[in-house]
Order: sequence, then C-alpha cells, then structure tokens
Amino acid sequence: MRERKSSTIAVGTSGVLCLLAVAVLLIGGGCSKKETGPTERTISKSEPAAFQPQLNSDLIQGRKVFEEKHCSQCHSIFERERKIGPKLGSDRVYGSFLDIFSTLWNHAPAMAVYMRKEVLDRPRFSTPELNQLVSFLYMLPYLGESGSPRKGEALLQEKTCFECHSLGRKGRKDGVPLDALGVYQSQVILLQRMWNHGPEMIGQMESKGTAIPTFSGNDMTDIFAALTESATEKSRKVFLGVGNTENGRKIFTDKGCSKCHAIFGKGGKEAPDLGKAVSQANVTSLITQMWNHAGTMRKRFAKMKLTWPYFHETEMNDLIVFLYSLNYEDKSGDAAKGERIFRDNRCVDCHFKTDADKQKIVGDIKSANAILFATHLWNHIPAMEAAMVTQAVPWPEMSGQDLRDVLAFLKGQ
Ligand code: HEC
Ligand code: HEC
Ligand code: HEC
Ligand code: HEC
Repeated sequence: MRERKSSTIAVGTSGVLCLLAVAVLLIGGGCSKKETGPTERTISKSEPAAFQPQLNSDLIQGRKVFEEKHCSQCHSIFERERKIGPKLGSDRVYGSFLDIFSTLWNHAPAMAVYMRKEVLDRPRFSTPELNQLVSFLYMLPYLGESGSPRKGEALLQEKTCFECHSLGRKGRKDGVPLDALGVYQSQVILLQRMWNHGPEMIGQMESKGTAIPTFSGNDMTDIFAALTESATEKSRKVFLGVGNTENGRKIFTDKGCSKCHAIFGKGGKEAPDLGKAVSQANVTSLITQMWNHAGTMRKRFAKMKLTWPYFHETEMNDLIVFLYSLNYEDKSGDAAKGERIFRDNRCVDCHFKTDADKQKIVGDIKSANAILFATHLWNHIPAMEAAMVTQAVPWPEMSGQDLRDVLAFLKGQ
C-alpha cells in the first residue's frame, strides 16, 4: 500500500524517487565496510500529527492530504500530465508556513471558479491537515533535481577522487571501492560516508599535498547518481526517505553543532547562524555546504580539542532535513502594520462592528498560533465571500508578511 503510493508520487524523476520512497525493500548486512548502514529499525517512523506549526517531513502523509482535498485533480507535481492549475514541482520556493498559506489564500477566488466547473466543494481543513498540506508543499523544493551519472563520473575524475578510489572498472585499481554506496537511495549517504572518513581522507590529502575537493551546483547529486548507476547489486536497495526533523534537532545538539552554531540567535557564536545561512536551500546545497566546510571545521575541531562527530544509521539524513526545516516557522509580525492591513482589507467591517464581535475574534486568536489562525481564516472563506459579493469588495489578497502582521495585531489587542 505504502509502496504503491510512493511510486505514484515520483513518476518520471528517478533522483526524486530515491527520496520519496520510505520502505526498505531489502536489508543487507553485506556492505564490506564495518560502518553501519541504516536498517529498518532505524528508519524514521511517521511523525505524529502536528498541532503546532511544525514541519512534518513525511511526504507520504502530505501526499495523502493533497489527494484527499482534490488538489491533485488540478495540480500535478512531478508527473508530465498537464492539468488545469500550474505544476507544483520542486523548482518553486514558497517560504515559511504563512508564506505558503498566503499563496493558497490568494488563489482561493480563482480556485473557486475552477472548482465550480469541476463540481468540487471547497476543501475545509483541520489544523493537522493544513499543517500537513503546507509541510508537503514546503518539502517539494527540498528534493532538488535528479543527478546525471555521466556528469558524476566526470566529476570523480576531475575532483581527483579516482586517484584513491575505484568505481566499477574505473578509477584506481587498488583504490578504496565506492560501489557499495549506490544501494542507499539518498545522496545524503555520500555526505555521511565522506564525513565519517573525513579526518582520515583529509589527512591523506594533506600528506599528498592535494587540495580538499569542494563541490558546487548539483555536483554531489551527480556523483551519487554515478554510484547508483554502477552499483553491482541493482536488486538490493535501501530507501531512506527524507529524514525526521525531530531526530535531527536532537542530533544537532548531541553532535555538538550548537557549541559553535546558533539557530536564530540561540547557541554558539563561533560560526555562522544556521537559521540564516541555510534558508532557500535544498538537499543538494545543504550537503554541499556541509562538505565544503569539512576542512575548516576539522581545523577548528582540532583547535578546540573536540572529537570529530561521526554519523550512524540515518543520523545525517535527519540532521539535513532538520536544517531545512528551520525556516518553516513564522517569525512574529508587526502589529501596527497589521492594524492597517486589517482596516484596509475591510476585515473591520465584520469583526470590529460591535464590542461583542471584537471580543470574539480577539479572544479566539489571542492564544492561537499561525496554524490555528490560518485554519480559521481558510474555513471562513464561505462566510466572507457571501458578504463580499453583496458589498462588492475585492478579494483581500495578503502576503505571508501581511498575515504575520495581522496575527500580531490581533494577538496584541
Ligand atoms: C479546481 C481546480 C483547482 C483545485 C482543486 C486546486 N487548485 Fe490550486 N490552482 C488552480 C489554478 C487554476 C491556479 C492558478 C490560478 C491562480 O490562482 O492564479 C492554482 C494555483 C495554485 C497555487 C499557486 C501556484 C503559484 O505558483 O502561484 C498553489 C500553491 C495551489 N494552487 C495549491 C493548491 C492546493 C494545495 C490545492 C488543494 C487544497 C489546490 N491548489 C486545489 C486550480 C486548482
Ligand atoms: C588522497 C586520497 C583520497 C582522495 C583524493 C579521495 N578520497 Fe575518499 N577516501 C580516502 C580514504 C583513505 C578513505 C577511507 C577508507 C577507509 O576508511 O577504509 C576514503 C573514504 C571515502 C568514502 C567512504 C567510503 C565508504 O565505503 O564508506 C567516500 C564516500 C569517499 N571517500 C568519497 C570520495 C570522493 C567523492 C572523493 C573526491 C571528491 C574522494 N573520496 C577523494 C581517500 C581519498
Ligand atoms: C568547532 C566549531 C564548529 C562545530 C562544532 C560545527 N561547525 Fe559548522 N561551521 C563552523 C565554521 C567556523 C563555519 C564557517 C566556515 C567557513 O566559513 O569556511 C561553519 C560552517 C557551517 C555550515 C555552512 C554555513 C554557511 O554559511 O555556508 C554548515 C551548514 C555547518 N557549519 C553545519 C554544521 C553542523 C550540522 C554541525 C554539527 C555536526 C557543525 N556545523 C559543527 C564551525 C563549526
Ligand atoms: C463579511 C464578513 C467578514 C469579513 C469581511 C471578514 N470576516 Fe473573518 N469572520 C467572519 C465570521 C462570520 C466569522 C465567524 C464564523 C466562521 O468562523 O465561519 C469570522 C471568523 C474569523 C476568524 C476566526 C475567529 C475565530 O472565531 O476563531 C478570523 C481569524 C478571521 N475571521 C479573520 C478575518 C480577517 C483577517 C479578515 C480580513 C481579511 C476577515 N476575517 C474578514 C466574517 C468576516
């Protein structure tokens, strides 16, 4: 059941397929290295439904809401099929929870027109459903582009990897073989293994006088595609899914990242604030950033007498998606601007007419988070629409920032 679902998600793009599948088809102990590979036991289970604006990275659950609410009737994701609405593929970047929600809000009238044609009811959402749906849209850019095995092989040559490594019949005959990595269906494993062997590998490079290779663009995904292509055992595959953000949060502390890095001001001051540094990234750019700094970090680690953090099982996968999740939650808005927006959009006409009206909305929103606010807002579109048509008011389009400001205004009343 799960497997069938996941394969419908990823028709076409094999690189993306890797990340979307969550099942373990075959678990092997046959990897020649002593290193532990992820096993079924350690692959993240679905997270519980979130009642707070908390990214749920489980794409299978997200896809379910996307289908249940008939979004899939008008939007394709990776499929080639053309539908009424624009394709919501991985090249769109939507921002935080309220930024993404605002695109839904703003397209509500256009959607309604098409929905009448298709004889669909406007969907209503519970808070977990809306969180799940927005999480799903938030996760799409994470998947990045699929890799090219041909480019990957050229890179292995160009970046001097083949001076110490072999892959299939290519590279250095007595080099460390890289073939076994290809069974893991996520490019994050490449980073995890390179990282774990970082001190040794970088040490060898330094003694040989070669520079530590760095990557850009889609390089690491291309290299991973080359490994997958050359994997001797095509039948054995280990799917990792996209990782679990909650585990990632723990790993970030446990591995000592927070000794040097802050996240939005909280934590160490030795290194860039990762809340700011990693925004607008995808899985490829995150693993690239991590690796490119391995050299610098190794020096710092030595200076601060810290032991190099090793990653086991799915730990790197969880850490990377945790970094990606950092921009999901909304920062607080500006109440004064929110008051203006609330007035200009005629929200006041219905909500602040009488004191009782005002008390009602303010009372309900005071303790609300962004998800509860957005859910109420969405579910009351029919009530609003009716009045707007009779009063000939245009649809109150709002950006994510507008929504943050309105929320701040209502909370401050
Ligand atoms: C009946 C058809 C239909 C349904 C159902 C539908 N949409 Fe749309 N959607 C559209 C059309 C048409 C557009 C483009 C029109 C516009 O808003 O400018 C659009 C635009 C969007 C956009 C903005 C894309 C962009 O780049 O600006 C997003 C995001 C979106 N839809 C998400 C959803 C989600 C999530 C659902 C399910 C809750 C959904 N849509 C259901 C027809 C539909
Ligand atoms: C100077 C030699 C050298 C170069 C150049 C080199 N490596 Fe390595 N690599 C090593 C050594 C040594 C190990 C550790 C082997 C061990 O521990 O058994 C290693 C380990 C690895 C591993 C882990 C393998 C596993 O099975 O877990 C990966 C992945 C890897 N290297 C990728 C690369 C890539 C990609 C490049 C090019 C960008 C590269 N290496 C360049 C020497 C090198
Ligand atoms: C000993 C201090 C230290 C520790 C511990 C540390 N880092 Fe770093 N990190 C740095 C420094 C310094 C930089 C910036 C290096 C540079 O600019 O070349 C950096 C850069 C980064 C970047 C790139 C940011 C950017 O702006 O490009 C990422 C991502 C990152 N670190 C993640 C991590 C993670 C995840 C951990 C935990 C496994 C970690 N770091 C642990 C010192 C550290
Ligand atoms: C035509 C009248 C009307 C307009 C205009 C209107 N609302 Fe509402 N709103 C309602 C009614 C009626 C309810 C309560 C019934 C419901 O939830 O469907 C409500 C409920 C809400 C709630 C949920 C409060 C609760 O009870 O938890 C929020 C938040 C809200 N509106 C925000 C806004 C914002 C922001 C605007 C301006 C963009 C706006 N409304 C414009 C009539 C309106």
